[in-house]
Amino acid sequence: MPAIEEEKLKILIRRSAIEKRVRQVAKQITRDFKGERVHLIGVLKGACIFLSDLVREIDLETSIDFIAVSSYGKGKESSGQVRVLKDLDSSIEGLNVVLVEDILDTGLTLSYLLRVLQQRKPKALRVAALLDKPSRRLKQVKGDYVGFSIPNEFVVGYGLDYGERYRNLKDVCVLRLPPETHGTI
Ligand code: IMP
Repeated sequence: MPAIEEEKLKILIRRSAIEKRVRQVAKQITRDFKGERVHLIGVLKGACIFLSDLVREIDLETSIDFIAVSSYGKGKESSGQVRVLKDLDSSIEGLNVVLVEDILDTGLTLSYLLRVLQQRKPKALRVAALLDKPSRRLKQVKGDYVGFSIPNEFVVGYGLDYGERYRNLKDVCVLRLPPETHGTI
């Protein structure tokens, strides 16, 4: 897909590497919850593609649900405030929950979600994140299943967006904007 003029995309993680890593993460989850049911909760919208691929590789009884939060505006900077836009459809009490995130950045979203979900008494609560930018962390949270640790670059593709665009890219790409829009959107 062509980038909008002046927005430059550079592949960071190829689709083949993503596929392989998703299979490995699913295998790990399958091993960790052997003989049990796993309830995956996708954080909309960024995690929808990762969750779709992940759940199909998990060899256990599974169920899925989604929660939508907003911590970012239309651009690249976090507002630091997390709001629930769409809550879960059903209770998670007593369930083995794996919260599925696209990327761990400042950790504000994840620490908020962990607090909210823990109050609902799941049997287990783990975190799977496709990507992790550990250098950006403001809250001390970490993923139990992390696909790739990446440098401090703004990335799009495989579910991740910039102003709702680029989610459909099959590779994870670094997005470079023209200099005049940096930090102003
Ligand atoms: P956090 O609360 O700062 O950890 O941000 C988490 C959310 O910010 C992620 O679930 C993404 O939706 C978004 N985000 C953070 N970094 C990026 C990025 O590089 N590209 C696209 N979205 C990002």
